[in-house]
Amino acid sequence: MRAPGLLPLLLLLVGAASRPSDRFPGPARVNVSLDAAPEVRWLPVLRLFDPGLVRAAMARIVGDRVPRWVLGVIGKLVAEMESFLPQPFTEEIRGMSDFLNLSLAEGFLVNLAYESSAFCTSIVAQDTRGHIYHGRNLDYPFGDLLRKLTVDVQFLKNGQIAFTGTTFIGYVGLWTGQSPNKFTVSGDERDKGWWWENVIAALFQGHSPVSWLIRTTLSESEDFEASVYKLAKTPLIADVYYIVGGTSPGEGVVITRNRGGPADIWPLDPLNGAWFRVETNYDHWKPVPKTDDRRTPAIKALNATGQANLSLEALFQVLSVVPVYNNFTVYTTVMSAATPDKYMTRIRSLS
Ligand SMILES: *[C@@H]1O[C@H](CO)[C@@H](O)[C@H](O)[C@H]1NC(C)=O
Ligand SMILES: *[C@@H]1O[C@H](CO)[C@@H](O)[C@H](O)[C@H]1NC(C)=O
Ligand SMILES: *[C@@H]1O[C@H](CO)[C@@H](O)[C@H](O)[C@H]1NC(C)=O
Ligand SMILES: *[C@@H]1O[C@H](CO)[C@@H](O)[C@H](O)[C@H]1NC(C)=O
Ligand SMILES: *[C@@H]1O[C@H](CO)[C@@H](O)[C@H](O)[C@H]1NC(C)=O
Repeated sequence: MRAPGLLPLLLLLVGAASRPSDRFPGPARVNVSLDAAPEVRWLPVLRLFDPGLVRAAMARIVGDRVPRWVLGVIGKLVAEMESFLPQPFTEEIRGMSDFLNLSLAEGFLVNLAYESSAFCTSIVAQDTRGHIYHGRNLDYPFGDLLRKLTVDVQFLKNGQIAFTGTTFIGYVGLWTGQSPNKFTVSGDERDKGWWWENVIAALFQGHSPVSWLIRTTLSESEDFEASVYKLAKTPLIADVYYIVGGTSPGEGVVITRNRGGPADIWPLDPLNGAWFRVETNYDHWKPVPKTDDRRTPAIKALNATGQANLSLEALFQVLSVVPVYNNFTVYTTVMSAATPDKYMTRIRSLS
């Protein structure tokens, strides 16, 4: 006998069991081998994507974000300072630019254009058992193109995953990443204005692009403490907020960066009730502008979740509350360095 009531019931049960994050697709997960030469290591990944799409995205981002005079200056800078530009990034950009029939200057410029990341939200938090969780929304214009170019990259050394990050095809820096069993990092733009003049001056002085420092730190730092030190003190081409999570209780911090060094270090303080830190794009000690308050809704959602109920999935839900989640949100990543296999990115699209 057929049981007509069974199917709806089963659907209901399946629905109840599925997690909110299951409704969104994950990006491609690819390997980039650091054992291969920098010029060729991205090519296997590039071949997975439509080169027309990659070129179109780059053209649009450069066209929209880069004043014309900058292209000329970067062209000269790249030609004259080639051997001084940071590695392996410059060689990686050269390899990808050759593949895409772009000049090295154009490839370099695309990578610099992404350095101003628009609006973002990052959260680091600790549950009642002392586990550390870290989540972020990356908000950026051109979501229609960038959603198709978002990838989770596993960087391999000696065939093993050395670190993982989320980025856009063609972009060698990382705004989000994890060093397994050590620490996690995300970056949010510091909303103080972003001037090409300053960026170019700082590049000449040998300062690092902000997303390149995230990648270098993931690659080199031994533990949470070493990563915080490196992220706090290395000279940068622009201001930024770095959010870092570790593996032990108390290991969570928001670093407010000036180009030359730290402006402020704001750690978790769970013993005094501060079990999470929320950073959007404003200094935490100042009020947020009423026209762009994503901080208060995120804090409300964390308060409503409760420290005891914290999990990666709960953090994903906090990052799904409008306007923390908004029309510019390209992806959400949640991660916990102590459980590296649970690194999860979802491609978002509100409208
Ligand atoms: C680059 O140019 C070569 C030769 O003109 C062409 O065969 C190739 O398809 C081009 N590649 C891309 C990604 O446009
Ligand atoms: C990526 O590298 C890991 C570690 O070596 C391996 O297990 C996995 O199969 C690789 N994935 C792809 C898609 O090649
Ligand atoms: C969140 O909870 C803390 C502690 O109870 C409280 O001080 C704070 O006002 C709450 N914030 C919001 C936005 O609800
Ligand atoms: C945790 O979630 C349960 C329901 O799953 C709820 O009853 C409880 O109030 C939550 N804890 C806090 C501190 O909000
Ligand atoms: C997103 O954009 C749509 C129209 O494109 C608008 O109606 C909606 O209010 C926007 N949502 C948010 C949260 O800004």
